[in-house]
Amino acid sequence: MQHLQEMHLSSSVFSLSRYGINTSVRIGSGIMLEELEALSGHDTYIAVSGKVLSLHNELSQWLSNNRRVHYSPVDDGERCKSLSSYEGMVSSLLSLGFPRGGIIAYIGGGTLGDLAGFVSATYKRGTGFFAFPTTLLSSVDSSIGGKNALNFDSLKNAVGTIWNPSRIIIDLDFLATLPRDELLNGVSEIVKYAILKDPELLDERGFLNLVKNDHSGSAEIVERSIRIKAGFISGDIDDRGSTRIFLNFGHTFGHALEAVSQNAIPHGRGVAAGMIFETKLACDLGLCGENTLHRVVSMIRDSGLDLPGLENVDPTMMMRYVLNDKKSRDGILVIPYPVRPGKMDLAEVRQETFEKSLKEFIVSGYGPI
Ligand SMILES: NC(=O)c1ccc[n+]([C@@H]2O[C@H](COP(=O)([O-])OP(=O)(O)OC[C@H]3O[C@@H](n4cnc5c(N)ncnc54)[C@H](O)[C@@H]3O)[C@@H](O)[C@H]2O)c1
Repeated sequence: MQHLQEMHLSSSVFSLSRYGINTSVRIGSGIMLEELEALSGHDTYIAVSGKVLSLHNELSQWLSNNRRVHYSPVDDGERCKSLSSYEGMVSSLLSLGFPRGGIIAYIGGGTLGDLAGFVSATYKRGTGFFAFPTTLLSSVDSSIGGKNALNFDSLKNAVGTIWNPSRIIIDLDFLATLPRDELLNGVSEIVKYAILKDPELLDERGFLNLVKNDHSGSAEIVERSIRIKAGFISGDIDDRGSTRIFLNFGHTFGHALEAVSQNAIPHGRGVAAGMIFETKLACDLGLCGENTLHRVVSMIRDSGLDLPGLENVDPTMMMRYVLNDKKSRDGILVIPYPVRPGKMDLAEVRQETFEKSLKEFIVSGYGPI
């Protein structure tokens, strides 16, 4: 593994218990092996991304030399969030006689986290769960809040539970091998947090460095992002209340755009386009001013997120995905939007209104914005 110590990354440990989540988080550089050593005194099963394993020699050496820890390389990415991967992991746990009191951990991105979390939540009605996120998106987003899911037929995240890891270890050294598009998927979630709660986050040197793939100061940006997400989860762990929904900003449009492009448009760029569309929709409905839209656009553009072309997008097909979205009920879509960066509200938008705006947006593109 490549070491970045010379960049003086700070290391921090904090607990999310005051947000109602019993999880301790450690962020730092070169901390993974020490945390794995601590785990090796327990019955532990680690699902590890095959790609991460191939890129990080210290990790593969440690796993193959440590006989007390069971591990399984997983071909990760969206395809691993399937019933067949679930069956494979449960079979291997059963054949090991893995106990209910053991710890299931994952080392990988959000897809592997969703699979491992679902296995941990359901194997023998629940085991211990640890997370070692290795993408920026999984570090600032998917590892926090306990949601996990498998895809079923063509429906993404069709089955899942909420099962929080008791410990999240974010070793920033993993980011050194992350491809640029994957980095930007995480950047777009950080931009979302900035718009939701903390616009100054994007002015921090750590963020400006992170966008350039320089990780000095990243620990602070990751920690601030996690605390923002945790704040929206607090009091709404099971996502049936009224705050977790704000985290969906940009995602109704963004997910549909990713889906119609058959994932040719990566998540980060889909959400970037979605944040612009959903702010513009609110603006057109008279819920926020043009200056809010302009600020949102510049926050996105200044963060290096290039916007996807919309020329070949079929709006009717996109609407199908939008309506499949769990947030649409009785023809009403609940859309979070910024009154201004740092202050959010919810709009109840009729399906026809959403569809009309979506069609116009696709025809005019990002227009004069
Ligand atoms: N549970 C939640 O709350 C939640 C929240 C947001 C997203 N998600 C889910 O997360 C998934 C997306 O997660 P993701 O963006 O981490 O994608 P991912 O898990 O597919 O990882 C992206 C790619 O990067 C590779 N990779 C991982 N770490 C690497 C590293 N350090 N260096 C080089 N390559 C590396 C992986 O092998 C994969 O090819 C989606 O399925 C989404 O639904 C879940």
